[in-house]
Amino acid sequence: MDVGAAFDLSGKTAAVTGAASGIGRSTAEALASAGANVLCGDINETGATETVALITEAGGKALAQRMDVTNKADVDAFVDRAVAEFGRLDVMANVAGVAADGRIAEATEDMLDRAIAINLKGVFFGCQAAVRVMQPQGSGSIINVSSSIIDAPAPAYGLYGMTKAAVAHLTMTLSREVGRYGIRVNTLAPGMTITEFTTRHVYEADGTVNQEKYDAFVNQMRKLSPLGLVGEPADQAYLIVFLASDAAKFCTGQIWRANGGQTTAW
Ligand SMILES: NC(=O)c1ccc[n+]([C@@H]2O[C@H](COP(=O)([O-])OP(=O)(O)OC[C@H]3O[C@@H](n4cnc5c(N)ncnc54)[C@H](O)[C@@H]3O)[C@@H](O)[C@H]2O)c1
Repeated sequence: MDVGAAFDLSGKTAAVTGAASGIGRSTAEALASAGANVLCGDINETGATETVALITEAGGKALAQRMDVTNKADVDAFVDRAVAEFGRLDVMANVAGVAADGRIAEATEDMLDRAIAINLKGVFFGCQAAVRVMQPQGSGSIINVSSSIIDAPAPAYGLYGMTKAAVAHLTMTLSREVGRYGIRVNTLAPGMTITEFTTRHVYEADGTVNQEKYDAFVNQMRKLSPLGLVGEPADQAYLIVFLASDAAKFCTGQIWRANGGQTTAW
């Protein structure tokens, strides 16, 4: 048994959406550290370029591309670029996503459309584009990012939760449709993980972080975990590396939960 070889991604190509920040950035760094060539996509081109710099400085190989996951042509072009630059597509990590706070009764149609466009249609387009390349190739691993909210509905998180539950269903159905082509499809359902996404709760109007609110927020999150931990982006990224690798060759159609046990308290 060679554990290093099972997790090794050398010579493989990965495309990561949402790679400018948080879990997407950490995922891109981790996949590159495991040996993959990584195309980093994000609507925030500056952030994606910074991620590439971090990977390159660490000795990895990566490129950045501005892309909007709500635009099918952008997503198709993103996957085509990965193939054009690196020759194939082995891993597609659909990480890009946004919060959609607000109670259902008061939510506007625009809020609903935005949540669906980014969190669901973005993943849907990413899956379609990846399968287009992976099916003739006869192999591939697709990882779609959902959320622990699907296990624990909460007031004011309904729009977000609906889109993330749909991502889990999309994943399960797709895994049944494309397994015969050697393509694995899995969902990652992260628990509370400190990123821009979570710290939105503690920003002041001028954009600075309110340290007192931040500490109180993190402590509250820690209390939800039997381990007393709040997630770091790398906690999600390592699970994605596993799902991307041959070590996970028997794993498909599943929801994977790196959440510190938070949902056991809900
Ligand atoms: N942080 C958490 O606690 C947590 C928990 C559960 C699920 N998630 C999910 O993890 C994923 C990553 O979130 P994060 O915490 O790293 O947040 P983040 O805000 O740090 O990163 C999200 C990234 O997505 C990008 N993005 C947004 N809209 C886009 C678009 N239309 N096209 C391309 N890129 C776009 C942003 O520019 C950003 O770089 C999201 O899908 C989120 O829903 C996060």
